[in-house]
Amino acid sequence: MLRGNRELWLALLALILITAGYGLIIGLTSQIPPASEVFGHSLGIAGFLLMLMTETLYSLRKRSRSIKWGKMSAWLQFHIFTGIVGPYMTLLHTSWKFNGIAGVTTLLTMIIVFSGFIGRYVFTRIPRTKEGLEIEGTLSQEALKQARRLLALWHAVHIPIGIALFISAFVHVGAALYYATFLK
Ligand code: HEM
Ligand code: HEM
Repeated sequence: MLRGNRELWLALLALILITAGYGLIIGLTSQIPPASEVFGHSLGIAGFLLMLMTETLYSLRKRSRSIKWGKMSAWLQFHIFTGIVGPYMTLLHTSWKFNGIAGVTTLLTMIIVFSGFIGRYVFTRIPRTKEGLEIEGTLSQEALKQARRLLALWHAVHIPIGIALFISAFVHVGAALYYATFLK
């Protein structure tokens, strides 16, 4: 899966560097970084910003008619990079506790990343056009129809989960800032 997919290599590199930083902090403080202290909090904020970029930038580029900055394929690669690295940072931010709405937000985050992988590296292998069908020469019209239906179903999962995820993330951020940051 990694062959020819530059975004996955770059994401892997970022994950290794972040994990090294996380390990270093554990070594220095002898504890799992708490979500509400400087390092854990920063991971949550930076990861959340990357996730917000994942949610918005690709869609904005896809729909913008007047400004055509960069290739769509590059924006999808960036979508995937930030869509892996951002969630990983928020996972380390959790300090491995998953109570209440924050736990729900984490679960939704994991589901959307998983669904992204299915959509990108499993479904898009299926030729989507008549030309693709001719090149492959193996799939029947019926199989193509079924593949299109699956892809539509996939969109119907990946997109609403994103919306649910950001609603619960904003509730978590509001509650966490109120109870764990400002009331302290
Ligand atoms: C999608 C992004 C995020 C996810 C998935 C997430 C998830 C979590 C989880 C699972 C916890 C642990 C809850 C527990 O104690 O059981 C937590 C704690 C916390 N989060 Fe987040 N978080 C995210 C973003 C943020 C952001 C952006 C901020 C701040 C601006 C934030 C601030 C906090 C704070 C302050 C705590 C500690 C709460 C406490 O000590 O009671 N989080 N988060
Ligand atoms: C925080 C994580 C993620 C969020 C919030 C997110 C959100 C979204 C949204 C809102 C769209 C719709 C774009 C549009 O049609 O306007 C989308 C499309 C897509 N996402 Fe994600 N995504 C995430 C992670 C991922 C990951 C990790 C992958 C791949 C490994 C991925 C692959 C895709 C693909 C292939 C599309 C369809 C592109 C198209 O049909 O034009 N996503 N994502």
